[in-house]
Amino acid sequence: MRHRFSLLLLTSLTACRGGDGAASTADAGTRYGIGRPADAQLVARLDTDIDPSGTALPAGHGTAAEGAVLYAAQCAMCHGAEGLGMPPAFPRLLGRGPKAEDFNFASDHKLPKTIGNYWPYATTLFDYIRRAMPLTAPGSLTDDQVYALTAYLLAADGVIPKETTLDAAALAAVKMPYTDRFIWSAEAGGQDRD
Ligand code: HEC
Repeated sequence: MRHRFSLLLLTSLTACRGGDGAASTADAGTRYGIGRPADAQLVARLDTDIDPSGTALPAGHGTAAEGAVLYAAQCAMCHGAEGLGMPPAFPRLLGRGPKAEDFNFASDHKLPKTIGNYWPYATTLFDYIRRAMPLTAPGSLTDDQVYALTAYLLAADGVIPKETTLDAAALAAVKMPYTDRFIWSAEAGGQDRD
């Protein structure tokens, strides 16, 4: 979905000017002396959402072996060498915990929520890592690196074989182990349950 973004550049308070003209496109960024119109390049940089079907996944590819090196260098300091997290601030990523049939996270909130048991889609994992991680430098990973990290995390949890190379088609084809435990909300055309 395309959104219109307006970027506010708050450089200094002295840059703020009053303005009483009616708002119009020509006024964008000048009425209050802050902000500027979002150009196509900026919108493209932020408009990277990938839906469950994975149709918008970018070109590129990566392996679990490449991802392991990246994980150790850029992720392990917060999520732990084994992906078990560092409570309370840094979430656990790996370890599926109980078998699906025993895993009742609706009634036992203490069960660990991990990629393997709490992500219904692998495609949105790619989206999340690409836009949000590493926490200190979101957006710094290349698409190849995000494929590699996604492959590493999925392989470490036994969701895909360790030798898989992930690209757009391979990632879209991954079925997450607990995906059947999720339903679409009524808003999205599904049927809510109590
Ligand atoms: C500086 C600490 C830090 C680093 C480094 C970091 N993360 Fe995170 N990560 C976090 C925090 C904090 C959250 C929770 C964010 C939230 O819930 O809003 C998180 C959440 C996540 C999640 C979602 C977990 C879930 O199931 O909700 C994933 C996946 C993830 N990180 C992957 C990575 C990867 C891959 C890297 C390395 C490229 C990385 N992180 C580096 C701190 C970090």
